[in-house]
Amino acid sequence: MSEERNPADSLPVGSLVCPEPSERPDLWPWTTRRNEDGVLEIGGVPLTVIAQDFATPAFVLDHDDLAGRARVWSSAMAEEFWDGYGMSGGDAFYAGKAFLSSDVARTVVSEGMGVDTASLGEMTLALRAGVDPALIGLHGNNKLDDEIVLALQAGIHRIFIDSMDEVAQIERIAGRMGVTAPVMVRLKSGIHAGGNEYIATAHEDQKFGVSLADGQALEVVRAIREADHLEFLGLHSHIGSQIVGTQAFVEAARIVLEFAARLRDDLGVAVGAIDLGGGVGIAYTGDDEVPTPPVEVARALAAQVRQTCQERDLPIPHVSVEPGRSIAGPAMVTVYRVGVIKDVGLPGGRVRRYIAIDGGMSDNIRPALYGAQYTATLANRLPDFEGAGSVRCRIVGKHCESGDIVIHDVDLPGDIRQGDLLAVPATGAYGYSMSSNYNMLTKPGVVLAQGGAARWIIRPQTIEDLLATDEGLK
Ligand code: LLP
Repeated sequence: MSEERNPADSLPVGSLVCPEPSERPDLWPWTTRRNEDGVLEIGGVPLTVIAQDFATPAFVLDHDDLAGRARVWSSAMAEEFWDGYGMSGGDAFYAGKAFLSSDVARTVVSEGMGVDTASLGEMTLALRAGVDPALIGLHGNNKLDDEIVLALQAGIHRIFIDSMDEVAQIERIAGRMGVTAPVMVRLKSGIHAGGNEYIATAHEDQKFGVSLADGQALEVVRAIREADHLEFLGLHSHIGSQIVGTQAFVEAARIVLEFAARLRDDLGVAVGAIDLGGGVGIAYTGDDEVPTPPVEVARALAAQVRQTCQERDLPIPHVSVEPGRSIAGPAMVTVYRVGVIKDVGLPGGRVRRYIAIDGGMSDNIRPALYGAQYTATLANRLPDFEGAGSVRCRIVGKHCESGDIVIHDVDLPGDIRQGDLLAVPATGAYGYSMSSNYNMLTKPGVVLAQGGAARWIIRPQTIEDLLATDEGLK
């Protein structure tokens, strides 16, 4: 969104109309279109049908979009790190924290990806969905014993070690179970990248990873090599989220490989694999750049890996990535129904129209938490800006606080009215997965749309679900 503001009325200047799917296809799920009646359709299903036959609010997931994005990532990594070019292969693991359900896990796996998990819940879901444990990774800066036990029992692909404490913890559990734990080490590369302070993860003064700068990383690898029940697979780096361009990723790859050379020289240790994390950004509004295509990221990484390995005389390791947002984010929209509408006079005689919808910060905390910007358009009819004029709106939820804002500023047609449907694009990543029951609202469900048919893949919570854990009501 434009930073420029008119001090007289504190409304941003310029047009803030949500781009139509035909204008900015990257903002919308791939199958989104306006049908002959002016209704938005996803997967061949009109959003009016979703609102009527399912519910509002609802997250609507475009199956073909999600599958396509997963395929693009896995094939880009396979292609760019192909054996035939002297590489030792490339893989992509879907970061389940962005949005996970059994359907999603099965879809990304069927498109050639693994699944990266970061808790007992995510790992259990992936396993119960039937994901091959050899395709599952486990992250976390403070793993519980139960998480490590399940990872080792199931025989997952790799556990990412995040601290010296964890070397001892995993060694103890693996020793007790009589197994060997395959581990990688998460590094602090020193790079500060990402859209928001809270989602940048590789600078020194934050909780993730072990520092290269103070020598901790070397000590952790040494300790792993000395442990009887740990197998050192390689190194990991995740530098942050919602990153634009390829430069920061490329720099991280260089730093990780420089450290691989140091491990060889100082400890005689070979790094067989590196994982360069997730973080590729997406567009949320018409003001955001069109995102960097995965193949460009994979190609830039491959070029850097080739170059540094050559310079340092290193064998090329297996390279993987863990994209989340760039797969789930654009694949979903949220559909809300418009309720109360209130015009608020601002200094200078201008008006801000508050449009209240039937969800809010419980289904999208990102604006309140990160100042994230979204946009929205009418889903049930063609927006008629010419006939009805344009009005600057703020989309707010139904929670008991004034910071409950889903969209700060968006232009909608002047005839917007109660009962209209609003579609907010790019809510697939960290929308449902960060949803809450604030004010005891039930969480909305997720509808999957494909080939003209729709079904719940996560049903909406009921009041009974919500009250089920209250012991005093039993
Ligand atoms: N790998 C690791 C180790 C991660 O910590 C993350 C995200 C990813 C991969 C996936 O990153 P992505 O491709 O989705 O950017 N809740 C925040 C984002 C937090 C990201 C946490 N880690 C948000 O809503 O923007």
